[in-house]
Amino acid sequence: MSKILVTGATGNVGRHVVTELAEAGIEVRALVRDPSKARLPEGVEVVRGDLTRPETLEAALDDVESVFLVWPGFAAETAEPVIKAIAQHARRLVYLSANGADLADGEEPTIFHQAVERLIRQSGISWTMLRPGGFAANTLMWADQIKQGVVRWPFGAASRPLIHEKDIAAVAVHALTSAGQAGAVHVLSGPEQLTQAEQVRVIGEAVGREVRWEELPVEEARPLLLAAWGDEKFVDGALRAWGEFVASPEKGTDTVARLLGRPALTFRQWALDHAADFR
Ligand SMILES: NC(=O)c1ccc[n+]([C@@H]2O[C@H](COP(=O)([O-])OP(=O)(O)OC[C@H]3O[C@@H](n4cnc5c(N)ncnc54)[C@H](OP(=O)(O)O)[C@@H]3O)[C@@H](O)[C@H]2O)c1
Repeated sequence: MSKILVTGATGNVGRHVVTELAEAGIEVRALVRDPSKARLPEGVEVVRGDLTRPETLEAALDDVESVFLVWPGFAAETAEPVIKAIAQHARRLVYLSANGADLADGEEPTIFHQAVERLIRQSGISWTMLRPGGFAANTLMWADQIKQGVVRWPFGAASRPLIHEKDIAAVAVHALTSAGQAGAVHVLSGPEQLTQAEQVRVIGEAVGREVRWEELPVEEARPLLLAAWGDEKFVDGALRAWGEFVASPEKGTDTVARLLGRPALTFRQWALDHAADFR
């Protein structure tokens, strides 16, 4: 198996993709912006590059067969030259997209994942799309409040089957290293629905501390989230989504278990793996 380039290699998912590939003895190269802060496993080749500056990616793409692409939250406009460069060098691309990235013919993208998926499909490279729903890692946003014993947040009844980043990474490794993955779109989730209030309780149990949920009215939550996150569109999108997940919880899939031949990791397992982050 030839070399695989992993972008987002210091992030939630990419770090596990790098580790799993290295442990399997596959040649892996990690793209990072600052090698001195990367903290990747011994022996992994680390190359400096910036996805917003395509001219910095040439060295990273030299002699790679496959690429795992994470497109961080920035706009899709700059993705075109990056995807073109990847398609010139590599034969296979696995993209960390998102649930809901479907785009009908002639429809204009409303989220960057749709725009990036379209560019990938048009590039001619052999592709696989991974479309996870909510990451379990999103609950790290409550870490400070959990340390205080109470989470004040809106929509405690919003329910999602959150996915462990290790499962997304394991599916990515499967897609990067198995035959029959060209043109596959994998919608991914964790194994069980939990409301936000239940997620907080499970984290408390993993940490060994009782943590209370206190329902925060949306009118009070919005200015607090705006102050914390800055981006009005993102805040309103999150509030809308949580509101919708009260009446219609995010749908789960069995894709992780089907592809990996083992059950998807539970949220409880995720909380145990991250207990130190909440102490
Ligand atoms: N959270 C969710 O519920 C959810 C659900 C579905 C899909 N997603 C998608 O998952 C992706 C995020 O994955 P993640 O959580 O694994 O990532 P993450 O933990 O947010 O980390 C982002 C990664 O991107 C790198 N990065 C940032 N800017 C860069 C740049 N200009 N050039 C090169 N690398 C850069 C970061 O590297 P540095 O170390 O240099 O900062 C880091 O490795 C996003 O596309 C998101 O939309 C998220």
